[in-house]
Amino acid sequence: MSLKLQNVTLTVPDGTETRTLLDDVSLEVAGGEVVALTGASGSGKSTLLAVAALLLRPDSGNVSIAGDIVPANSDRKRTTVRRNQIGVVYQSANLFPSLTALEQLELVSHIDGSLNDAARSRAMELLVTVGLEARVNARPAELSGGERQRVGIARALMNKPAVLLADEPTAALDAERGQAIMSLLVEQATQHGAAALVVTHLPQQIASSRVLEIDQGRLREQTPSLVSD
Ligand SMILES: Nc1ncnc2c1ncn2[C@@H]1O[C@H](COP(=O)(O)OP(=O)(O)OP(=O)(O)O)[C@@H](O)[C@H]1O
Ligand SMILES: [Mg+2]
Repeated sequence: MSLKLQNVTLTVPDGTETRTLLDDVSLEVAGGEVVALTGASGSGKSTLLAVAALLLRPDSGNVSIAGDIVPANSDRKRTTVRRNQIGVVYQSANLFPSLTALEQLELVSHIDGSLNDAARSRAMELLVTVGLEARVNARPAELSGGERQRVGIARALMNKPAVLLADEPTAALDAERGQAIMSLLVEQATQHGAAALVVTHLPQQIASSRVLEIDQGRLREQTPSLVSD
């Protein structure tokens, strides 16, 4: 249950030149550890997360999930690892409008062909854990922003991921609700033993974690005393 990036570099064409979005990035998050990733707008946070989520392929370097290097050359293997080992929470919950909260979670198992009674109970248990037992049959339009994010967190945990990635999961919420959702995310990641990497502008919302800062595609570790609030 760990996430490791080794010397990851990603460039994109920029006119006649190339632009480096990720510059020799290495990091490791252990199972049960929650690490905050912060940095200015455009510094490469979402790009880094997309590489860790196996949605983007780096030009060079490796991504390891739960101890195994994910092959760069097999789309099928990458999809399997993404489905089975990675959970992602987005800035807005990205829920399907026509599905109830419970169905959003069941869909995760349906897609990988594992929707059975055990998966249905797990979906229900996760929704209870995030405090939505009374809202399991509600559709996104009937939920508040915070409630939708809680569904998003529960959904990300549905496949028992080794790695949990979240991109500004509280950006759309007010400070108090944001803090509550972040605490829930940290608590759930820790409890499930997932290696969690959370992009946030408010690293102080994440208790006792390491903070990594990215600046123009280069990563550096902040010492806790340098974290401002
Ligand atoms: N497909 C792409 N092609 C070219 N440039 C890209 C591409 N995707 C992102 N970029 C650029 O890469 C840089 C990093 O983008 P990224 O989305 O990772 O930033 P971010 O740190 O998540 O910013 P924000 O806090 O605004 O979400 C930005 O300058 C962006 O314009
Ligand atoms: Mg971003």
